[in-house]
Amino acid sequence: MPTPSLIPPHGGHLVNRIVDAVRSRTLAEEAAALPSVELSPKQACDLEMIGIGAFSPLVGFAGADDFASICKRLRLADGTLWPIPITLAVNDTIRATLAVGGRASLRHSDGTILAVIDIQEIYPHDRKLELPNVFGTEDDTHPGVKDVLKEGDWLVGGPIDVLRVAAVSEGDERFEEFRLPPAATREAFGEKGWKTITAFQTRNPIHRAHEYLTKCALEICDGLLIHPLVGQTQPDDIPADVRMACYKTLIDGYYTADRTMLSVMPGAMRYAGPREAILHALVRRNYGCSHFIVGRDHAGVGDYYGTYDAQTIFDTFDPGEIGIVPLKFDHAAWCNSCEAMTSAKTCPHGPEQKVFLSGTKVRQMLKEGKRPPPEFTRPEVADVLLRWASKQVPAAR
Ligand code: ADX
Repeated sequence: MPTPSLIPPHGGHLVNRIVDAVRSRTLAEEAAALPSVELSPKQACDLEMIGIGAFSPLVGFAGADDFASICKRLRLADGTLWPIPITLAVNDTIRATLAVGGRASLRHSDGTILAVIDIQEIYPHDRKLELPNVFGTEDDTHPGVKDVLKEGDWLVGGPIDVLRVAAVSEGDERFEEFRLPPAATREAFGEKGWKTITAFQTRNPIHRAHEYLTKCALEICDGLLIHPLVGQTQPDDIPADVRMACYKTLIDGYYTADRTMLSVMPGAMRYAGPREAILHALVRRNYGCSHFIVGRDHAGVGDYYGTYDAQTIFDTFDPGEIGIVPLKFDHAAWCNSCEAMTSAKTCPHGPEQKVFLSGTKVRQMLKEGKRPPPEFTRPEVADVLLRWASKQVPAAR
């Protein structure tokens, strides 16, 4: 069903860089003879995001002008809003095998050819420009910075043609049934008759605070897209298959089936706080969503960003340019006096009445076989997490 009433993709049209079956056969033969670049897990995620149009209007990895412009002013060289450079970094050895004007195959770590890049540029990887601008820090203990520091000294720019997408690491689940590209979520929204859709980005199990935000948002929208990121995260984060089991259990028990949709986003986390919040929002716009939840310390890690920096950054752009509406939420928690989920906006009681648990504290409790309280996590979700923590990882349905 056509979906004319949905928000247009960022940049005006949905990119599709996945080649059709006929072209795929000839391209695969050509690719086998080309110099080859083995992709890191983050690059493999980026390749899929470009291929399926989630990163529209990008058609490939960033060239030098785009890279500099994105770092300095959150815009592509042509002025289009874009907050984080999507780069293909290679080391000296690989760089020596590549030529501007030529092509290269992009391979998964298991050797499978995933795509071919038309090499338009090869230029030095200016980390001094990238790190302070994109992450606000050069601290090598920041997980996103650490990744960039590990990358090669050269960046290869150019459009890609994608033959196939693959799991980031061997053995990772792909959740095919839930891995809808933007064209498919748009179609699904049309079939459901939803015009306004809130997207919820998460890299965690859905605890009570998350549930509260999503349900407040659903009160003002036709539908809710629970859209967990299942690409590369840091080892500390709960694995995607465990999270998926949590989401399914929670949705079955506590969400309205005709208003809620679960789908996965194959992107990699960068932990870049405010800039990543903008990226997450633009990506969800491409998936067809009209609203986007931005809560406390969105896409943050440690103490690198202010609690609401990822919200205020939206105010520095024309709302029409971002297109998708950010739904900004205050820090939410259960209040024992109100006997409800609350925030400082809605509840007069002090912190001593609130049930706050940090991610570290929850992980510690799970490790010790202790159940997080029901005011923090639904018992059914706690069950899934406890089974995982005791190494009896439940199979995702
Ligand atoms: S994130 O990296 O995807 O941002 P997480 O999965 O923890 O991490 O958060 C998902 C969304 O919920 C983000 O928008 C985040 O800001 C928001 N959030 C998480 N916990 C809370 C909370 N207690 N109060 C308000 N917002 C929250």
